[in-house]
Amino acid sequence: MNYSKSLGVKKFSSSRNRPLTTKQKLVFEKNFRKLSIESFCNIKNLKRHNKKILEIGFGAGDILLNNALSNPDNLYVGIEYYKKGIAQLLLKIEKYEIKNLRLYYGDALDFVEKSNNSLFDDILIMFPDPWPKKKHWKRRFLNNKSVREISRCLKDGGGIYFYTDDRNLAVWGLRYLINDKNLLWDVQKPIDCRRNNFLYFNSKYEIKALKENKNPYYFKFTKF
Ligand SMILES: C[S@@+](CC[C@H](N)C(=O)[O-])C[C@H]1O[C@@H](n2cnc3c(N)ncnc32)[C@H](O)[C@@H]1O
Repeated sequence: MNYSKSLGVKKFSSSRNRPLTTKQKLVFEKNFRKLSIESFCNIKNLKRHNKKILEIGFGAGDILLNNALSNPDNLYVGIEYYKKGIAQLLLKIEKYEIKNLRLYYGDALDFVEKSNNSLFDDILIMFPDPWPKKKHWKRRFLNNKSVREISRCLKDGGGIYFYTDDRNLAVWGLRYLINDKNLLWDVQKPIDCRRNNFLYFNSKYEIKALKENKNPYYFKFTKF
């Protein structure tokens, strides 16, 4: 079955879809139905979780995995259109018998467009792909439409965390986030965005950037 096609995953993700191992294929097939937006909307007792936290583009899923293991009362939701990333994280969910982590395979904008208003306590956009070439800028997740949608599904008082080690992407994202009339840049002085607030576990991209002496940008916007 061509899962990418059946879930409407955008074409530019396919270059990333490296072949799955047998184990990964099996876990993906077993959980396929659960990876849809419809299945997420049907999760019973969404309310019983303390907080609901969404990560857009979780890659290998380290941030979600570590946070879900350390905070069993919260529900973590991850979106990814990289099939291997989904399969790798599903295997870890099985291995550690994690009950508070749900994954969605597909495009993040499709997911947020279908999500309810004021659903999430926090939304994480950690080290998204910078897509440096101009002809690829349309692939960058942050734009007017996506910011309007993530702001709508965020609770009042909730936070959008946008971290990147790419200066051009930092300026790009900041422009859209600042423009949203319901979001406030949570910062005393601009230089503070160069320091991690350690609210979430480190991403491997952050560790790599720090090793290379690149100082990432850590933006937090609060909905009011
Ligand atoms: C550079 S990785 C960062 C992974 C993770 N956030 C971290 O910090 O470790 C960015 C990921 O976002 C995913 N991604 C980018 N745009 C996406 C979209 N529109 N919908 C779903 N996933 C997306 C990519 O497939 C990629 O795995």
